[in-house]
Amino acid sequence: MKAVILVGGLGTRLRPLTCNTPKPLIPLVNQPFIEWMLVRLRDQGIDEVILAVQYLADRFRAVLGDGSRLGMRLHIIEEPEPRGTAGAVKNVEHLLDGPTFVFNGDVMTDLDLQAMLAYHREHQSKVTISLTPVEDPTQFGLVEMDSNQRVKRFLEKPRVEDITTNLINAGTYIIEPEIFRYVPPNQFYMFERGLFPVVLQTGDAMYGFASRAYWTDIGKPQTYLDVHHDILIGKVKYGFRGQEIANRVWVEGDADLHPSAQIVGPVVIGAGTVVERGARIIGPTVLGANCHIGPDANLEGMVLWADNHISEGVTLRNSVLGRGNTIGPKSFISDGAIIGDDCNFGPENRLERGIRIWPGTVLGEKAISF
Ligand code: GTP
Repeated sequence: MKAVILVGGLGTRLRPLTCNTPKPLIPLVNQPFIEWMLVRLRDQGIDEVILAVQYLADRFRAVLGDGSRLGMRLHIIEEPEPRGTAGAVKNVEHLLDGPTFVFNGDVMTDLDLQAMLAYHREHQSKVTISLTPVEDPTQFGLVEMDSNQRVKRFLEKPRVEDITTNLINAGTYIIEPEIFRYVPPNQFYMFERGLFPVVLQTGDAMYGFASRAYWTDIGKPQTYLDVHHDILIGKVKYGFRGQEIANRVWVEGDADLHPSAQIVGPVVIGAGTVVERGARIIGPTVLGANCHIGPDANLEGMVLWADNHISEGVTLRNSVLGRGNTIGPKSFISDGAIIGDDCNFGPENRLERGIRIWPGTVLGEKAISF
């Protein structure tokens, strides 16, 4: 079974984390997100994957190679220019030879793919769209179905009085290759605004597959943090790597944890990380590889990528730190702050409330964000 994963977007909403790293390669619990996704697909019977890349193809090749390390065949295909979601699949049409899964490359889900495939076959569907319920349908594009689950209508961000369903497109599709004859070649063309409305007109069988599987778009800072918390507290199926050294405390390789440090799971600690005396690491928290957590530092609800240096007495809460930052003594970072890579902060800085700090920023001492 083959799949195409769309990974050509710019990831603008997740900046500054995506300034140096394409969105699909940013870490999810210390593993490139796309790698986690590929392993999940492999475990559900997909053995050949085409990554539709638009820029930085070499970065993908360096991390994933030809897929053999992950036990699958992987093709990394670069578009000459952005082709949009449907246009990107059209660009790799020559590699398709049967019903094909298509995934947005920024969705975290534990959807049962074999169940979706069985549904697709049972309904002799040409396009099957996975659907997920949302609490506030006014913020999304809704998909309306008839009583046989055949797709009837697409509604883009409707007014409250026009809402007839709470189901949205969850970004996973099964598509028969013949459907791509409707996609114009060498053009920018989208599924939602282009191909799917056309399929409604042509009358080809298009069904919705509604499920309550876990589903989150990891492409926004808050959802990126939330998805880590959800994984760690067990809201979504996830196979932790590393060794569980205490109740819900996983260590990936060697780490140096001072006996007086307090570590309260769920916490994942990357290989080579050092936690010094009196530090408190409270879950749900992920520490990347080769981080240094100084004496009496307090971390709670955090995601740290690799190579961060956290000085003595620092407090970090519910925020994300990219790679290679140095945080000066007694600094305080909280409430959804997003720090890019390679920043250097002096002592006693205070950064809060969703502030975003660009890579390479240098701060002296005692700066306060408002
Ligand atoms: P933002 O800039 O933050 O909106 O991110 P994005 O462009 O990555 O996300 P969007 O939600 O618009 O895209 C959904 C999925 O389609 C993502 O996995 C993108 O990588 C992918 N995608 C969007 N446009 C293209 C494209 O032109 N080509 C390819 N290959 N993939 C695309």
